[in-house]
Amino acid sequence: MITALTKSADDTRELGAAVASLASAGDVILLSGDLGAGKTTFTQGFGRGLGVQDDIVSPTFTLMRSYEGRLPLVHCDVYRLDHLQEVIDLGLAEMVDDDAVALVEWGDVAAPGLPADHLETRIELTESDDERRFELRPVGSSWLGRVDGLRAATERWQS
Ligand SMILES: Nc1ncnc2c1ncn2[C@@H]1O[C@H](COP(=O)(O)OP(=O)(O)O)[C@@H](O)[C@H]1O
Ligand SMILES: [Mg+2]
Repeated sequence: MITALTKSADDTRELGAAVASLASAGDVILLSGDLGAGKTTFTQGFGRGLGVQDDIVSPTFTLMRSYEGRLPLVHCDVYRLDHLQEVIDLGLAEMVDDDAVALVEWGDVAAPGLPADHLETRIELTESDDERRFELRPVGSSWLGRVDGLRAATERWQS
């Protein structure tokens, strides 16, 4: 597991872009953390790192949005369990199969029905308003094979 500390929203965007440098087709990244933790902010930076030109906005009410970049980016918010089925119905798995990278904002619901291979990203608030603690945990062989690269790319934020 890799732990990282960011000191501002922009710092979190830069961390997201650094993680995106390792992204490959079919990746799934699960983002967990309370409302306001920084899941959407991280996704904005990740999208920038993938070369997405459009503004990335919270998918809270639309559940899923897609963007064009070096790889297609699919961004969804599944903070309630019934959203998961809706996102599956909207074709999340097919998009991932078609070489997209999916970032899934996730509340505390469990992760049934999502690929076994994923990068788990937990974000926690700290005592300082503008600081966030990240835990990056590769799950499955696809991300475990990139753990050294991930460590190198995120070195500057490691704590
Ligand atoms: N280090 C930080 N990383 C991310 N967001 C931060 C940080 N410090 C302050 N913030 C603020 O916290 C909020 C995070 O919101 P958002 O990314 O929408 O969270 P979530 O998607 O997890 O609900 C934003 O208002 C952002 O400006
Ligand atoms: Mg959000």
